[in-house]
Amino acid sequence: MTRLVAVSNRVAQPNTDSKSAGGLAVGVLAALEEYGGIWFGWNGKTTQGEPGDPKLDQVGNITYATIELNERSFELYYNGFSNTSLWPVCHYLLGYFRYDHREYDEYRRVNALFARKLLPLLRPSDIIWVHDYHLIPLASELRRAGIKNPIGFFLHVPFPDIEVLRVLPVYTQLLRCLCTYDLVGFHTQSDLRSFNEALSQDEFGGITLADRRRPSSDQLVHTGVFPIGIDVDDCQQLAQVAHLEDKTRRMVRNLRDRDLIISVDRLDYSKGLEARFRAVERLFENYPANRNQVSFIQIAPTTRAGVRGYTDIRHALEQATGEINAEFADIDWAPIRYLNRAFDRGTIMGFFHEAAVGLVTPVRDGMNLVAKEFVASQDPKDPGVLVLSNLAGAAQELTDAVLVNPYDIDGVADGIHRALRMPLGERKERYDSMIAVLRKNDITAWRTRFVDTLIAAHEHVRLVS
Ligand code: G6P
Repeated sequence: MTRLVAVSNRVAQPNTDSKSAGGLAVGVLAALEEYGGIWFGWNGKTTQGEPGDPKLDQVGNITYATIELNERSFELYYNGFSNTSLWPVCHYLLGYFRYDHREYDEYRRVNALFARKLLPLLRPSDIIWVHDYHLIPLASELRRAGIKNPIGFFLHVPFPDIEVLRVLPVYTQLLRCLCTYDLVGFHTQSDLRSFNEALSQDEFGGITLADRRRPSSDQLVHTGVFPIGIDVDDCQQLAQVAHLEDKTRRMVRNLRDRDLIISVDRLDYSKGLEARFRAVERLFENYPANRNQVSFIQIAPTTRAGVRGYTDIRHALEQATGEINAEFADIDWAPIRYLNRAFDRGTIMGFFHEAAVGLVTPVRDGMNLVAKEFVASQDPKDPGVLVLSNLAGAAQELTDAVLVNPYDIDGVADGIHRALRMPLGERKERYDSMIAVLRKNDITAWRTRFVDTLIAAHEHVRLVS
């Protein structure tokens, strides 16, 4: 029987605190539940010695196969090359970028380690699906070890324009690694365009046609656009249940009939949090009628605490919250509530259901599933409005959101004000059109299209080689 073997840096194991795991975890889990198979990756813990064999935990039709990371690998591969070189480059945020060849060497070493630890678990009929920027070289390691299975790669973050990619001294090596997959998938057309442009620029990078051919075949790497989606019914059900629960009721009581603006993000500089806080401040400055009528809740659990840029953003937000509350608060009202902690998905959907505005303003994002979940959690008879950054992948599908440029503080304040004042008829029209898109490109469409395309791409290579 064909099994799916999903490989990602982090595995969201059941019964562990994976509340802030991001969109990748939700998508991978849903795919595995359908096909059954293995989820292989890091368990989030470090060890001083070399990691042992994978620990196997069977839950239903999924085997969670997890390993620890050596402390040095955690520092150089995860905090270093993955999150201080690749993450900023992919998000066009070069102020946070740093390169150190020792970190890249460790990145390659950890990818080789992942391949070694995964090998004994593989069967010839498995389909291997590798996820995200931490594991770009994994297919070349597996091929080197003789693995002939279909291997696909999906990039959950943006693929940057070649002019940005070029700051990475090792970018041609990474491009060559990507070409060893049977299929490389992206969220949006612009990511795919950037990838193709990067491959076709012989002048600087020296990527030759031979590099773009997959090993032992004459075929160029297959590519495709597969926008990740959500399980719309699941979000709706979670919202229905949660909006009656104690936590949601307490939150609503506290609003005292004020409109709620809500944001939920990992505490990451790519999410545009500080500019967003300033936009809320500008809303109260430019549109004083909103004072004491609107409350903003930002939920932002800490992630990647070992990376410098992430500590800075935490301090900046605490300061902004203090300043804005000090300036505008009344004896019975604080404009901003900033919760630096995680909530479970159900509770979040319940909060979304109660909100007048979902404010999602990353300065760059591969997709952003929070935007999609916000829309899906709304009451169709009285839906809230999504205010969405035009620099998130989701904006290419959710064109009926109120689209804003996250760097334009006044523009975002205008967008929020417009959303707060939007008549019911327009809110419903926008909701209907967006929910139709969410249903069409849902999580099942994402995984089915990717896996089917991967099998076809692999079959094609087998036949012609
Ligand atoms: C983003 C990345 C994922 C990552 C997640 C959480 O969604 O695309 O690969 O797992 O953030 O980040 P973390 O560093 O905590 O795994």
